Amino acid sequence: MSKLVITGGQRLEGRVAVSGRKNAAVAMIPAALLAEGTSTIENLPDIQDVRVYQDIVQHLGVQMERREDGVMEINPAGFSCTQPPHSLVKKLRASYYLLGVLLAKFGEAEVAMPGGCDIGVRPIDQHIKGFEALGVEISIEHGVIKAKARELRGASVYLDVVSVGATINLMLVATMAKGTTIIENAAKEPHVVDLATCLNTMGAEIRGAGTDIIRIRGVKELHGCNHAIIPDEIEAATFMIAAAATGGDIVVENVIPKHLDPVTAKLRETGAEVEENGDYLRVRGNGRPRAVNVKTLPYPGFPTDAQQPMTAFLSIADGTSFVTETVWEGRFKHVDELRRMGSKVKVEGRTAIIEGVEGLTGAQVQATDLRAGAALIIAGLMAEGKTEICGIEHVDRGYERPEEKFRSLGAVMERV
Ligand code: EPZ
Repeated sequence: MSKLVITGGQRLEGRVAVSGRKNAAVAMIPAALLAEGTSTIENLPDIQDVRVYQDIVQHLGVQMERREDGVMEINPAGFSCTQPPHSLVKKLRASYYLLGVLLAKFGEAEVAMPGGCDIGVRPIDQHIKGFEALGVEISIEHGVIKAKARELRGASVYLDVVSVGATINLMLVATMAKGTTIIENAAKEPHVVDLATCLNTMGAEIRGAGTDIIRIRGVKELHGCNHAIIPDEIEAATFMIAAAATGGDIVVENVIPKHLDPVTAKLRETGAEVEENGDYLRVRGNGRPRAVNVKTLPYPGFPTDAQQPMTAFLSIADGTSFVTETVWEGRFKHVDELRRMGSKVKVEGRTAIIEGVEGLTGAQVQATDLRAGAALIIAGLMAEGKTEICGIEHVDRGYERPEEKFRSLGAVMERV
């Protein structure tokens, strides 16, 4: 088990470039399998979830290779197997997009229940409700989802909860269904829009992505395409919060400022300065942050994936902050670890109550999930002394070469 060792107290300064969005990447790879020809995907981050997905699709007979110039080439010509290996499927959450793709392509699928961060129950009832509406017979036996559809027919699906996964899975399965599918109460995250853009480039007919109602008119077949993935606004948010947390002054490059609006607004409330420009942001810390209240909500609300790093940052705020996590009921596991570093935070139901302290002290802590790891990096950068973060493989699932990027900003951080 590798770990990150951080010596805190350094102001972060300099420029850092954000990689492609993890949650777009793990949707774009399965989407490319729908095509009759080869697709090329640019800006695909070199993170563990992408490497696992590459392993899965190669088991399914698909050629997926990263070229010298970093562009990923996906050729589904040999795509034939409808049963991805359970051991790999369980390594990440987004493997469940294979259900939508296998059903659209072959009319059947056998996919183990997904894995992913342990941040709550993470049901898939909305995916199942949508598939059944399109004529899929689906059951879960011994932890494996078995699905079959003689013919996929477009239908209207009203999602009970705003679900990124269900929205994406239904977009995928509906691309070549007979007739039109309407998804109501759809997720509006930037990567939902990015996926719709990619699928339309492949010949799909998707309208309304980014709004509550997405309409997919089924087409006969899809062809390969070239698509560049949007930047990862959660990685960007992590660097922005790190800059504010260390009183630093950094430029975060390769971002779409609009996607960061809720994070920018909240950081400004704490007193940090955020300057927006074309495709980069400049973030400056401004002394001890003011306490603020945060409530996570689906986009364009404050992103749940930035909640954990934000909670770490607010540990040193001047005052008491209330952070309410409305999306995942189990997303406060980082709080126990922050307490080891002196944070005065307690959780009541869905709200973390953080009584700001002057500063944190380094300690040995454990990353329990991807963004909890990011929160502990923020805390380690702020803390006086040395912090050792075990379980850094969680961070590697969603951040590309984290220690290199933070070191380039002046952090004293190494992987051992
Ligand atoms: C995606 O998870 C992301 N993962 C998560 O990011 C992110 O936190 C989440 O969206 C919300 O933005 C990927 O894209 C791979 P949901 P997903 O379906 O699709 C409930 C990270 O850190 N729900 O939008 O699994 C669910 O319990 C990861 O990068 C149902 O009730 O999330 C939750 O309360 C962590 N039934 C809410 O909806 C369902 O069938 C949102 O879940 C599906 C979801």
